[in-house]
Amino acid sequence: MGKLKPTYDISRDYLFNFENGPFLEGPFPEKLREEPVKLFDVEVAFPLGVPAGLLLNGRWVLCYARLGYPVVVYKTVRSKKHPCHPWPNCLFVKTFMIDPYNPPDTILAPSNYTPEDPKKITITNSFGMPSMDPRWWQEDIDRLKSELPKGTLLIGSCVGTYTGTSWELKRDFARCAAMLKEAGVQAVELNLSCPNVGNGEGSIYTDPDLSREILQEVRREVKGIPLLVKIGLLLGKKLEEFVKACVFYVEGIAGVNSLQARVVREDGSPALGKDREKSGVCGWALRRCALEFTRQLSQLKKELKAEFLIFTSGGVTDRESFFMIREAGADVVMTCTAAMFNPLLAREIRKP
Ligand SMILES: Cc1cc2nc3c(=O)[nH]c(=O)nc-3n(C[C@H](O)[C@H](O)[C@H](O)COP(=O)(O)O)c2cc1C
Repeated sequence: MGKLKPTYDISRDYLFNFENGPFLEGPFPEKLREEPVKLFDVEVAFPLGVPAGLLLNGRWVLCYARLGYPVVVYKTVRSKKHPCHPWPNCLFVKTFMIDPYNPPDTILAPSNYTPEDPKKITITNSFGMPSMDPRWWQEDIDRLKSELPKGTLLIGSCVGTYTGTSWELKRDFARCAAMLKEAGVQAVELNLSCPNVGNGEGSIYTDPDLSREILQEVRREVKGIPLLVKIGLLLGKKLEEFVKACVFYVEGIAGVNSLQARVVREDGSPALGKDREKSGVCGWALRRCALEFTRQLSQLKKELKAEFLIFTSGGVTDRESFFMIREAGADVVMTCTAAMFNPLLAREIRKP
């Protein structure tokens, strides 16, 4: 893989990476620059993090906290064990920087293609939000807490499983959020936006009324812990409607999630197989989307005199993009794809 030193082996399946990863060569960095920020009640060493996705279990969370990412999100869990989509789960794609106002419908994932420049990596990912049984992940989180370095914020992400009615979906979000709180995370994130599930679980954020109802249900059940929502790319009126519907119930808004597109091989066939024509695209090409989203969300926050924190992910692949997103108004800048292929990115961003 040339210059790339990924911690996640995309040539192997999810379970292999879950059980054996993260794959890291060399020691953890020392003497990283500190820029303490207060996030909720936690004094965090630096406003940099890894969003939900890459940190598959406690071992992964601990590794990235030690690598210098003080805001760590445990990968989205469910209230029941749930399988992962079959391998392959990640493929490199070849694309221009995506225009947030005109995102492409189709993106190319050439066979045998590996980008050389880690700063330009863009991938498609498709996992379908797998989960271990809650008894497993609750114990894993409980064990992890005592090992995390001081100045780390541990967020737990969850999703409700759709079983036929929106009432059941709301209840399942509330149940799962309560289990995360019980396990001991410091904040709970509700994922309303996975581009890799086809049953409506992934596009909740495009429905402000349903999003609000879910938040109300979770709030009724889970008290005394900050709540975040994770959303996909919304801009303009749609972002405003979402924020107005939900702002009262949350302490943080996280986005953007991977952008859904049809991902194809050179001959036009679906790159992940015919059952998965569409999947999420993330990494470098998402940067302009994340930037525009952050600017608008930050503006709305001012206009509404709201107090939520902004957790931005999308296309942060180097030091420069970290500062761009921070200046656009993000309270915390998150990086997923780049942190997967260049785990030492935190050292570059936090150079003393
Ligand atoms: C391998 C992988 C798995 C992901 N899984 C999740 C997930 O379980 N829940 C979630 O909210 N987002 C998930 N995401 C989306 C990321 O949190 C992030 O929003 C997106 O990748 C954009 O950031 P990036 O450009 O830095 O990768 C995943 C992303 C990747 C690359």
